[in-house]
Amino acid sequence: KYIKELKGLKNLEEEVKKVLGLKQVLLVPGGLEYSTIKQEIGRFTAKYLKGLLKDDDILAVTGGTTLAQVANAMRSTSNPMEVMVVPGRGGLGEEVEIQANTIAATIAKKIGGKYQLLHLPDNIKEENANRIVAEPSIQKTLNQLKKTNILLHGVGTAEEMAQRRGMSPQQIKALIDRGAIGEAFGYYFNEQGDIVYTTSSVGLHLNDLTNIDTVIAVAGGQEKARAIKAVVSPDYQDILITDELTARRILELK
Ligand code: G3H
Repeated sequence: KYIKELKGLKNLEEEVKKVLGLKQVLLVPGGLEYSTIKQEIGRFTAKYLKGLLKDDDILAVTGGTTLAQVANAMRSTSNPMEVMVVPGRGGLGEEVEIQANTIAATIAKKIGGKYQLLHLPDNIKEENANRIVAEPSIQKTLNQLKKTNILLHGVGTAEEMAQRRGMSPQQIKALIDRGAIGEAFGYYFNEQGDIVYTTSSVGLHLNDLTNIDTVIAVAGGQEKARAIKAVVSPDYQDILITDELTARRILELK
């Protein structure tokens, strides 16, 4: 029975891979409570990442509760790795536990690597961003970010992310009216995968993703199915890690 279930999961991975046009889809078996799903995805991703990382890699990570689970699930190693971990974008608006800075530092410590942080808020005004970017400490991190070869990022529903980033109800309505469905590192995408809104921040931009060898989106929970489909595309991502039920929901979407 176990073998049969495993085969079913592999077939499902293949189907989702085809629908989204990705190189690889990895699924955590379903049938779990929502809270447990995030934890399981975190554990699975941590293990996968550990296997993927090698010396001299530069890993960029975004924020969010899913990424926080990945960081928590990462096992401490006795063999330190020559890996640099950096936050993908600035963003001090959210709770400290789920900020990209915290996640980058946690992962770096667990693997015995190094980290550099971006101490600046998301949604920063452009004129201020230009000045802050000139700061040597920010420049140092941005230079590492330019050399990123692995990016691990979360995907959220447009509405939840807009709320979390402190948009007003009117702004959220305007965003939804524009067709925003999914969000990843400050970009909001509609059903067709077009960008309908961008938050101003410092760090990685969507165009930079094409220069990164391995881009991994990690997101689960059935309510994120539409968001995942909107955000994830072969233009930017290589790998999606999600759970079985969300994968089934993605296939049901028209
Ligand atoms: O940009 C998307 C968010 O990082 C996703 O956050 O993992 O807490 O749902 P989450």
